[in-house]
Amino acid sequence: MTTMKPASSGDHYLFDNGSDLGAQQLNSLSALFDAHTRSVLNSLPLSASPRSLEIGAGNGSVARMIAEHSDGQVLAIDLDTTHLPKTPGVEPRRHDIREGVPAGPFDLIHARIVLTHLTAREEIFASLVDGLAPGGWLVLADVGLAEELLVAPEESDHEVWRNYNDAAYRQVGPAAGHDYSWADRTEAAMFAAGLSDVVAEHVVPLARGGGPWAMYQSNLSRQAEVPLLATGLSMEDMERYRTMLTEPEFRARIFSLTYTAGRKPAA
Ligand SMILES: C[S@@+](CC[C@H](N)C(=O)[O-])C[C@H]1O[C@@H](n2cnc3c(N)ncnc32)[C@H](O)[C@@H]1O
Repeated sequence: MTTMKPASSGDHYLFDNGSDLGAQQLNSLSALFDAHTRSVLNSLPLSASPRSLEIGAGNGSVARMIAEHSDGQVLAIDLDTTHLPKTPGVEPRRHDIREGVPAGPFDLIHARIVLTHLTAREEIFASLVDGLAPGGWLVLADVGLAEELLVAPEESDHEVWRNYNDAAYRQVGPAAGHDYSWADRTEAAMFAAGLSDVVAEHVVPLARGGGPWAMYQSNLSRQAEVPLLATGLSMEDMERYRTMLTEPEFRARIFSLTYTAGRKPAA
């Protein structure tokens, strides 16, 4: 196993998979993005019976998808394996990727919305490239900020929107180690690491009031309520933000998701 330096003190995962809200968060991500992830992964020419590593596996939906599609073995790691069952072809393991990449090599390494959160992403990225077998694929999906309120249910919601986003995405997220620019830098990092067949796809989901993407944001605001209020965000703005997310007129772009894939040259 490749080992890395310990995480910096600011680097802590903001959400709690073990809580009900954490479980809902993981299920929302599966509902929102699994179809797209499937189309990205199915397009890769994987070797027969590949050995795969799924990092930050969450509820295991992508690990199961890889196992079913590829007929290979998937090692599914996460800090918290509460919602990560053992299923045919999938071995769940509690493991912190900051401590190193499990022994490989792997024909496919995939992580969705994980490196965004980790301060040591550049070192982890390098170790993931090292962990690939010749001809193996690295597929990373990370979030960027879109932050566009397209339809505000009330005029005053523009200010609430700005206040919430400033607290969440310029204070709480960065303080926990989030880097929303990494998604746009991943492609260049893959080229610099000598990967071939590098390709990226960028999706910007539209959040509609009461819809799954808006409710996902509401969930995050509840899980991070304490640090959000500690920035000085008022409870009034917090509550109005959550209400706005449920209103039928609400339309916004909040996050983008960029999928980037690259292949280690064959030996
Ligand atoms: C935003 S969730 C994404 C879950 C899943 N990849 C998905 O897209 O549905 C981030 C996941 O990464 C896990 N995670 C965070 N830091 C990690 C670390 N240092 N090592 C392993 N897993 C980690 C979290 O526990 C959580 O399950």
